[in-house]
Amino acid sequence: MHTQLLETLTPLSLIERLQYLAQHYGSDCVFSTSFGQEDQVITDAIYRKKLPIKIFTLDTGRLFHETYALAEETRSRYQATIATYYPATQAVEQLVSEKGFFSFYDSIENRKECCHIRKVMPLQRALSGNKIWITGLRAEQSSARANLPLLSWDDTYQVIKVNPLIDWSYEQVTQYLTTHHVPENPLHHQGFISIGCAPCTRAIAPGEDARTGRWWWESSHKECGLHQK
Ligand code: ADX
Ligand code: SF4
Repeated sequence: MHTQLLETLTPLSLIERLQYLAQHYGSDCVFSTSFGQEDQVITDAIYRKKLPIKIFTLDTGRLFHETYALAEETRSRYQATIATYYPATQAVEQLVSEKGFFSFYDSIENRKECCHIRKVMPLQRALSGNKIWITGLRAEQSSARANLPLLSWDDTYQVIKVNPLIDWSYEQVTQYLTTHHVPENPLHHQGFISIGCAPCTRAIAPGEDARTGRWWWESSHKECGLHQK
């Protein structure tokens, strides 16, 4: 399935991959940013080439102050319109009223419930009606992501999911950011590599797997449901 698109995109550069998707899918093509380093590379490439790819973010309500500041810096630097999706008010009110502000530390079920309300359900709305979902996933980020393809059919969200940086190294990402003076989250220089919600992200030690700092109190299950692997 989608073999032809995969074959077309595989030999291309990042910019060429994005250009191809914009040209062939236009307004049905959407990119999700959490303002991480990979996402900032893709955002810069989209605006640098003035590509008609829509950009959205999911504001869980629990992000770091630094992430909100970077979102603002990014909006103003690129004059960008970044659609921002929120969790359903009633679901968050019920969750916090019944289980408190830190229910996710109590069990994996509670943690997945919070991620489902704050991320997965808003993602479903954000992707609805689109054909292509572009993400900043890279194979090197963790062993669970090592075999992720450049492109796949996402049955959950009913879109073709494209990870145009899948084959990039961390060095390529940082080099792109430096070369093009792309704004970055200052937390990346304080030991945070993979950054999500503030209460669920900690700094990592040099040499540790990039995702060790996410949901660090759990020994496995280190995905929130946005990505099935
Ligand atoms: S996560 O599933 O553990 O949160 P990760 O932080 O590694 O994912 O980010 C991988 C990709 O998922 C990002 O490049 C981005 O495309 C998407 N993503 C993650 N969090 C968000 C968010 N809050 N808003 C929009 N996209 C996100
Ligand atoms: Fe909730 Fe933590 Fe998931 Fe954010 S990462 S949605 S705070 S459980």
